[in-house]
Amino acid sequence: MRYLSSDLGLSKGKKVSKIGLGTWQFGSREWGYGKTYADVEAAAIVRRALELGVTLFDTAEIYGFGRSERILGKALGEDLGSAFLATKILPVMPVAPIVEQRAVASAERLGARFIDLYQVHQPNPGVRDGTIMRGMRALQRVGLVGEVGVSNYSLKRWRAAETALGSRVLSNQVRYSLVDRGPDRELVPYAHDQGRIVIAYSPLAQGLLSGRYHEGHQPVNRVRAVNPLFLPENLERAAGLIATLQAIADAHSATPAQIALAWAIHRPAVVAIPGASSVAQLESNVAAADIELTDEEYGTLRTAAERFNPVTGVNAISKMAKARLGTKRR
Ligand SMILES: NC(=O)c1ccc[n+]([C@@H]2O[C@H](COP(=O)([O-])OP(=O)(O)OC[C@H]3O[C@@H](n4cnc5c(N)ncnc54)[C@H](OP(=O)(O)O)[C@@H]3O)[C@@H](O)[C@H]2O)c1
Repeated sequence: MRYLSSDLGLSKGKKVSKIGLGTWQFGSREWGYGKTYADVEAAAIVRRALELGVTLFDTAEIYGFGRSERILGKALGEDLGSAFLATKILPVMPVAPIVEQRAVASAERLGARFIDLYQVHQPNPGVRDGTIMRGMRALQRVGLVGEVGVSNYSLKRWRAAETALGSRVLSNQVRYSLVDRGPDRELVPYAHDQGRIVIAYSPLAQGLLSGRYHEGHQPVNRVRAVNPLFLPENLERAAGLIATLQAIADAHSATPAQIALAWAIHRPAVVAIPGASSVAQLESNVAAADIELTDEEYGTLRTAAERFNPVTGVNAISKMAKARLGTKRR
């Protein structure tokens, strides 16, 4: 495993692994992995992640309406204190006393006395961050929260959140993968220059970049039913990018998913938090931290990614609606 630079100066001398573990899948109905996954496999994934040097574990109060936090906390058990534990608040009522209550409730579900990174899950469109950051400051003051983070923030709003907090907002968790390279424009350079972190979510584009899915084999669950990338037409359009991932994977005795993750974490300020539906996937994802791609391979991946031109926007929504109607009629 590789880790972020210790210059970040995290409290308790903790380290952040370049590959973390995303746990939206734990106990959430929309991923549809079922009871055995929630009751058995999820804990096995966490235990194996710890053995392999993963320190960054990401959850949220909204995942499975608290189930993800409970499953993660229980599985970490005595290792809770050594992990870099990250959870998120959904800022529906972003006033300081509510923020404080919600952090306490998350800590209780996790069974933790300390949350290393408390993130605002998404920007509240109607309320600026002054009120929520007042709550965050209080949580840091009493020692329940180490670092504050945000998620799905623009650079402008990230910086405004820092001004409101009056100290660093360590990280911005955003969608970042070969098919979502937007953060390369501003967020990744900002993180690099200012000693901040970009946490890449959906680094495998929810499994698209594994190359497992095509028109004849589509994933069946609610998350991917509403993700336009899994429209049959887009799966077909992604074939060139998947073939490039496969060719580079062959050269490294790796898999397309591992090459996609190696790409996602190649910038020093970026860590990725792939989810996993099995222990084998977790093991494979962790191993991706040690893959070193050549400059030529990065160039080839960039070109293949730029050529991928998925159907998006209104066009994609109407196609998804038609596909769903078709499924219901069958
Ligand atoms: N802040 C936010 O707004 C936000 C939004 C989304 C996610 N997140 C966080 O980011 C985490 C990861 O994002 P995500 O779950 O959306 O997408 P992801 O990590 O890109 O995709 C996860 C899925 O890819 C498949 N997969 C994982 N490892 C694989 C491997 N080695 N080989 C083949 N397939 C593999 C699995 O699905 P199958 O096996 O079923 O194909 C798995 O459930 C979440 O768990 C959550 O913690 C945050």
